[in-house]
Amino acid sequence: MQELPLKLAKTLGIRKQQNAFRSLKQNVKLIDFSSNDYLGLASSEKIYRQAHHILSNNTLLKNGATGSRLLSGNHKIYDLAENFLAEFHHSAAALIYNSGYDANIGFFASVPKRGDVVFYDELVHASIRDGIIMSNAKSYKFKHNDTEDLKIKLKRNPKSETSEIYIVTESVFSMDGAFAPLNELTGLSEEYGAFLIVDEAHASGVFGEKGEGLVQQLQLQHRVFARLITFGKAPGCHGAVILGSKGLKEYLVNFSRSLIYTTALPPHSVATIIAVYQNFQEGFPGIQQLHQNIIFFNHQLEKNKLVKYFIPSKSAVHSCIIPGNEQVKKIAGDLAKEGFDVKPILSPTVSKNRERLRFCLHSFNSESEITGVLKKLTKLIP
Ligand SMILES: Cc1ncc(COP(=O)(O)O)c(C=O)c1O
Repeated sequence: MQELPLKLAKTLGIRKQQNAFRSLKQNVKLIDFSSNDYLGLASSEKIYRQAHHILSNNTLLKNGATGSRLLSGNHKIYDLAENFLAEFHHSAAALIYNSGYDANIGFFASVPKRGDVVFYDELVHASIRDGIIMSNAKSYKFKHNDTEDLKIKLKRNPKSETSEIYIVTESVFSMDGAFAPLNELTGLSEEYGAFLIVDEAHASGVFGEKGEGLVQQLQLQHRVFARLITFGKAPGCHGAVILGSKGLKEYLVNFSRSLIYTTALPPHSVATIIAVYQNFQEGFPGIQQLHQNIIFFNHQLEKNKLVKYFIPSKSAVHSCIIPGNEQVKKIAGDLAKEGFDVKPILSPTVSKNRERLRFCLHSFNSESEITGVLKKLTKLIP
């Protein structure tokens, strides 16, 4: 048998020619400017122990869920977690999925129906786009964070008796760290009778008084149709939740295939989510430290005359545009030799000539790590 069908081998060849070939690498221990573990919670022993405690208190010392949530997998701490999440996020209901990817495909494949229209920011995450592709609704992208462009498109495709309109954005964009204009988007969705969906993957645990996300920081939670919170980033664990009305939860439980046809998260994942949120509820000091580091990083960009290379950002994600896959990979490699883990983001993940080094900031990055990496960058940047 051939190792690989010819078409696939050819496609892989093209990837290599474009200098965009991906491979799985072991993590080497470098200074972390690349993970989404913004608060360092992924390796918190305290959370590990709290999660274990929750499991033993609930007699749930199990390795696996044993089935889909609709069959045998809906162990009792799911209710505990979903009630906690709904209350913390001021939402009528919460529905946990196995990952943010699953939540987005499960939501967008089932909620917008034939005849409906979805408007999405051109930079939304691949999981949202994949979900939209799986749906029978029509879809149009609007220019990144451009409410004027969205308005033109909304006018051209108004809501009717038989069609609903959905608007989707990320509150903090994963590839450039920019904020979405959430106030304007909320206003527009109300004006045009649309349902607004906000992916808060990079905002939860970072914004809001206790890490509730940007929607709650702006007090928009009751004007947004659905929010997606992922647990693999600032919360440092795994899974995701969709926040919305009780009716939306009932609908998703009945029709969202990525929730129905998969084995549920194991109990220890759900217990870890509860433990993290108990810490958020008490007020987690790392969030404040992360904000100080974001301010410090921006000061250092000015001091080192690097501002012009970076996309303006007040979030934990900062992107330095370095056009060309080869060039951006080389600089990332040189930074790694100096001990810094900063990932190159290549085209086609981002558009050509917008390739970038993505700096993810953390509560645990020290000031000397930040000054160190930016000093090196000034020497490497062409
Ligand atoms: C904006 C956004 N949404 C959704 C996801 C998917 O989340 P998960 O990693 O939990 O599948 C990601 C992860 O990269 C993301 O950045």
